[in-house]
Amino acid sequence: MAARQKILIDCDPGHDDAVAILFAARHMDLVGVTSVHGNNSLENTTRNALAVVEMGKLDVPVAKGCAEPLAQEPVGIAAMHGKSGLDGAEIAEPTRRVIDTHAVDFIIAMAEQHKEELILATIGPETNIAMALRREPRLKNWIREITVMGGSTTLGNITPVAEFNIFADVEAAWAVYESGIPLRMVGYNVTRQTGFDQGDIDRMRGSGKKVAGVLADLMAFYLEKQRQGYGLTVAPMHDVCAIVPYVDDSLIDYLHTSARIELNGTYTRGMTVCDLRNLKSVAATNMRNATAPNALVAVNARSRALIDRVVDTLLTYD
Ligand code: BDR
Ligand code: CA
Repeated sequence: MAARQKILIDCDPGHDDAVAILFAARHMDLVGVTSVHGNNSLENTTRNALAVVEMGKLDVPVAKGCAEPLAQEPVGIAAMHGKSGLDGAEIAEPTRRVIDTHAVDFIIAMAEQHKEELILATIGPETNIAMALRREPRLKNWIREITVMGGSTTLGNITPVAEFNIFADVEAAWAVYESGIPLRMVGYNVTRQTGFDQGDIDRMRGSGKKVAGVLADLMAFYLEKQRQGYGLTVAPMHDVCAIVPYVDDSLIDYLHTSARIELNGTYTRGMTVCDLRNLKSVAATNMRNATAPNALVAVNARSRALIDRVVDTLLTYD
């Protein structure tokens, strides 16, 4: 049997972050979870990360990361996830504790230990990753690939064109996208329609399993918020979409192209400008702003099959 791929998840749980952690732990070698500000305060996202790891009985270290974006003002907590960042279920205060190492140092240490093997998943604002890149430039050679939930090829969620994780620390995202490390980006254009519907929630609740029952309560809360906020009939599972391709590469289609971060712009700060023109020759077309491909950008997903795979996995927890 092939060795399980190594992954470290940098996150801000978050309902969909919780699912991403539990999914990854079942299929991959999850070497650690690092927390960052984003959906909620760092205190709360860290507590939530510990609670998820505890709920899944995962033997995985959790390291606490950065509390604020690099340069900009914090965007404030994400209403979609409620006051605690993980509202909707009674979750016991975790007994687990974070490790003594800061997330930035932990990311560097894991990348060095698992050189050219480690996949780094960023499913929150990219502050910890940008800090790690600044602190240890050799990270660029050590990381195999960064898988990003962030950005969009079309609409945004926090602004008409910007997605939350990018918008919550635009300079950090810029540093990651310009790092030269191979990127795999799944954005809001795909994740918005890839989520749990009421039937999935009922399936989890009806399973009689404890973890699935807690997740059903969490997702019912999150689905209602998505209904109220965007009129959606699914609770988008944004973050797990960054993990799924390592488990089944047939579920999301990518285009290898250029994805750049808009730092300025009156209405466009935080936008991911993805070149979908399929330019064959810049000279022949005389088109502008063609930059070298730096990312695999998700353009399409088989959402139903993907979500079925995720629910099946969550049902393996007791
Ligand atoms: C992203 O923002 C957060 O609210 C989710 O956890 C996800 O990472 C979607 O825009
Ligand atoms: Ca997230």
